[in-house]
Amino acid sequence: MRQTLAFDVYGTLIDTQGVTATLEGWMGERAPVLARAWREKQLEYTFRRGLMGAYADFDTCTEQALRFCCEVLGIALEAEQEAELLRCYRELPAFADAGSALDELRAEGHRLFAFSNGTAETVSGLLRNAGLEDRFEDLVSVDEIGCFKPDPRVYRHFLQRANVLPQQAWLVSGNPFDVIGAQAAAMRTVWLDRARQRLFDPWGGEPTATIGSLDELSGALR
Ligand code: LAC
Repeated sequence: MRQTLAFDVYGTLIDTQGVTATLEGWMGERAPVLARAWREKQLEYTFRRGLMGAYADFDTCTEQALRFCCEVLGIALEAEQEAELLRCYRELPAFADAGSALDELRAEGHRLFAFSNGTAETVSGLLRNAGLEDRFEDLVSVDEIGCFKPDPRVYRHFLQRANVLPQQAWLVSGNPFDVIGAQAAAMRTVWLDRARQRLFDPWGGEPTATIGSLDELSGALR
């Protein structure tokens, strides 16, 4: 049966740790520490801005999180290095399984959407650079309504934009907070547990399906 699929972008289709290679050249073994701290702080900023009702777009959260993490870790970046890192972040690589899985799902007739905290401009550039942009019917950005995942309004906005009922829509995400947010909006969910460590928040609900790779997604929808 034809399904509507909302794909989270950062951490699901696109590898946020893709900055590590650039960082390694500059700081060796501290590279993964900064890359991880940066991603965590970036998300923390979205959550805090959401709670405060003080929206600033995802690019701003990304940039401010980088500055803060460098400060905390005592890493002094030159202005050109910071600009280079932010440029890398706009050109992060796709995970190796993304293109083929999206092709398969499209061939099966499913409706595919990119659904992200990122701005439409940044996410479409990211997907274009990764060669994935043409796989999607549309891109839905939280920036259209000025709040971040997992605010319930974000999932309602997606459903409205895709013109679909929650029971007929799936969120596919590698981020448990996103999966739980979509479940709360009555959507069906696929948690992409790439690490296969089953570290899912014990809030009492389970994703509709759990997969370890996007290659398994088509089978999980049946
Ligand atoms: C996104 C973040 C949550 O792409 O990864 O929406």
